[in-house]
Amino acid sequence: MHATIVLLPGDGIGPEIVAQGKRVLEVIAKRFGHTFDMPEHAIGGNAIDSCGDPLPEETLNACKKSNAVLLGAVGGPKWDDPKAKTRPEAGLLRIRKELGLFANLRPTKTWDELLDASPLKREIVAGTDILFVRELTGGIYFGESGRKPHPSGEEAWNVMIYSTGEIERVVRVAADAARKRRGKLTMVDKANVLEASRLWRQVSERVVKTEYPDLEYNVVLVDSMAMHLISKPREFDVVVTENLFGDILTDEASMLPGSLGLLPSASIGSSGPGLFEPIHGSAPDIAGKNIANPLATILAAAMMLRYSMSMNAEADAIEDAVSRVLKAGHRTKDIAGTGPSISTTEMGDLVVGML
Ligand code: IPM
Ligand code: MN
Repeated sequence: MHATIVLLPGDGIGPEIVAQGKRVLEVIAKRFGHTFDMPEHAIGGNAIDSCGDPLPEETLNACKKSNAVLLGAVGGPKWDDPKAKTRPEAGLLRIRKELGLFANLRPTKTWDELLDASPLKREIVAGTDILFVRELTGGIYFGESGRKPHPSGEEAWNVMIYSTGEIERVVRVAADAARKRRGKLTMVDKANVLEASRLWRQVSERVVKTEYPDLEYNVVLVDSMAMHLISKPREFDVVVTENLFGDILTDEASMLPGSLGLLPSASIGSSGPGLFEPIHGSAPDIAGKNIANPLATILAAAMMLRYSMSMNAEADAIEDAVSRVLKAGHRTKDIAGTGPSISTTEMGDLVVGML
């Protein structure tokens, strides 16, 4: 197969980790007889620096024409000025919206060989395997916002808004995934307080009861969910929730396996290219030091092959190579604990070697 995969390295450690993802994809192409065209484009802070726009037109057009997009990370202190005209994150939000990527899949699975890297007790986290499905193009991230004068200074607001259709389509993505997994779906909301959550509860219950009666379904309030995630993470299979709750819960969940550096994510729409990225950020404090963990990006490349190109054998090969490298005891700094660690490029070498 011939495919065009747009690489968006972005800021901070983004270029270092995407470089390793690219190497892995090159090896896969060779081994399985594909050709991957992998043009690089600017996004985020570096795009603001080079052309004043965190998502240049040229980048967006290239992504629209591609089979899939592999992104590193965006943002950094250099672009954090609250008075700035635009921010790197605006580029990420826009590309999600423009490509219609309403479902963000964040699998959170513990690796047996890394259980001691988790801040939680082994007996609590062992065997955790959750797929979060976060709504990605609606809610408070995209609702009306503004500021106006107030006797005490100013007031500011952001509106959490959802339509029936936006809820239905993401619940279906989650329910389809649950059918292929352990058949359990949990919907997380704050229906005891928020009207938007009450619509989520109503719509989600109807979709599941009428279209997915075979699933085991429950609802959990987001504050309890924050607690359950660290007290009994094994209870959950697929978790579906709105944009902001999903943002927060997936960062919390990322600590279960011990490091953000291992978690990939896929953002997909109903058609067109998907966007694949590690769930961690641009880690400006360690940028350029060749110590970042490239495995989340490499695993994001595997998700890309699986979801966007139906290349299951290729994705399996990458996941298996990563697992063998970890089993052999190789660790980047973030997961090394007090033991010895290897660099970003060495980790890339090892995965490529296994392939
Ligand atoms: C994420 C990030 C983004 C988000 C930021 C960088 C805009 O935290 O992908 O989870 O909040 O969605
Ligand atoms: Mn986040």
